[in-house]
Amino acid sequence: MAASTDWLKAFHGPRGAQFSAQVKRLHAEHLRNYPRLWFAGRTPAAERLRECARYAGSEYVLLKEAVRSSSPLFFRNRADERLYRALVLNESFSADEWGSAIGLRETQEWLEEGLLDREDGGLVCRFRIVVTDRVFLVLDAKRPLAASSVGRAVHFEQDALHMLRYLARETIVPGVDYLDVGTGSGVILLHLAGFFRRSAGMDVLPRAAEIAALNRDLNGPAETVRVFQADVFDWDNGTERFDLVTWNMPFVFFDEEYGSFSPSTNGGRLGIEVTVRFLSRLPSLMSERGRAYLMTATPVLPEGRPLFEELKKAAARRGWDVEADFLHPFWIPRLGEFHRKERVRRFEAFMVRIVPGAGRFSVRKKPVFKMALDGVHAAIHSRNGGKNDHR
Ligand SMILES: C[S@@+](CC[C@H](N)C(=O)[O-])C[C@H]1O[C@@H](n2cnc3c(N)ncnc32)[C@H](O)[C@@H]1O
Repeated sequence: MAASTDWLKAFHGPRGAQFSAQVKRLHAEHLRNYPRLWFAGRTPAAERLRECARYAGSEYVLLKEAVRSSSPLFFRNRADERLYRALVLNESFSADEWGSAIGLRETQEWLEEGLLDREDGGLVCRFRIVVTDRVFLVLDAKRPLAASSVGRAVHFEQDALHMLRYLARETIVPGVDYLDVGTGSGVILLHLAGFFRRSAGMDVLPRAAEIAALNRDLNGPAETVRVFQADVFDWDNGTERFDLVTWNMPFVFFDEEYGSFSPSTNGGRLGIEVTVRFLSRLPSLMSERGRAYLMTATPVLPEGRPLFEELKKAAARRGWDVEADFLHPFWIPRLGEFHRKERVRRFEAFMVRIVPGAGRFSVRKKPVFKMALDGVHAAIHSRNGGKNDHR
């Protein structure tokens, strides 16, 4: 089967229900919480050391979750390890190995329908499975599917993990209607849907809406969760209002060349344009007592943090209490020269909580050890002059 065949079509085809059932069985028996989501390598101890070294050398702008995770140090048995490497890491295995992992007949069917592909002298899975504490997700493999899909593939990135961890610490007030904007794989939507009578996930990217709908069906219950394709700025929601609105936002500041290449992460001018625009859209989405959580970022310029100024203004104008909870600083080495020209010293990612209130804006302080670590990292980065390009 050619690499250009889209695996997603197989889930919508005549054997779609069968594939969903097979994949769900794998989850139940082998992949739930095992290994933990933030486990990123085959040889954990070595992997952790390698990640630490890259971070210390400023190759990576973030210390990967893998390094800090509580993931198990060893796989319990070979069969589970193989399944994990095949379905989560998308490594290549022989037809026989696939046969013993998912069954010989299944291997043949997956190959016929483009779920498996011949690569690296073996067979690789065209989709990827990610299992969190609450949901089971099927999404695009890390390897490019086809040249035409670059920039349109639906992945699961560290930002979603940060947002999930933040939300796990929050008290989510159960309500009636919930909206997840830019739902991507549906990960945030499916984590929170259980708190609400009705939930909706939308994405401007048609492929994201399709994948989120598939994940909704795989996780159930499908009746209370609506998924659709729309641009949040054009969508006519009539009188519909939501008790909770979430968006893991696009917030990267691209130059022209890269911007069109990555529409799902492009935050516009300074990386904050989409966020600022959304602050004006929010009042027509939130119910009177509704709240919103946004994951976004601000550049740090010599004169300050422009997004903080915008949040302050929005809070005062709308009577919201807005809290920014700092997550981490970041740089994008590949765009370093462009950002320096724009006078950006670094970016800071943070979560924004918006609730009805008295028009206050506040920033939650970071723990001292985190500030110290960020400072060391910033110093290493500026010494390297952003010459590394691995992000
Ligand atoms: C950073 S990704 C987050 C994806 C997913 N929620 C997650 O956490 O993994 C941002 C998402 O917003 C979507 N998006 C960008 N602009 C949008 C718009 N105007 N309306 C709706 N969705 C949009 C992108 O397609 C992308 O899927």
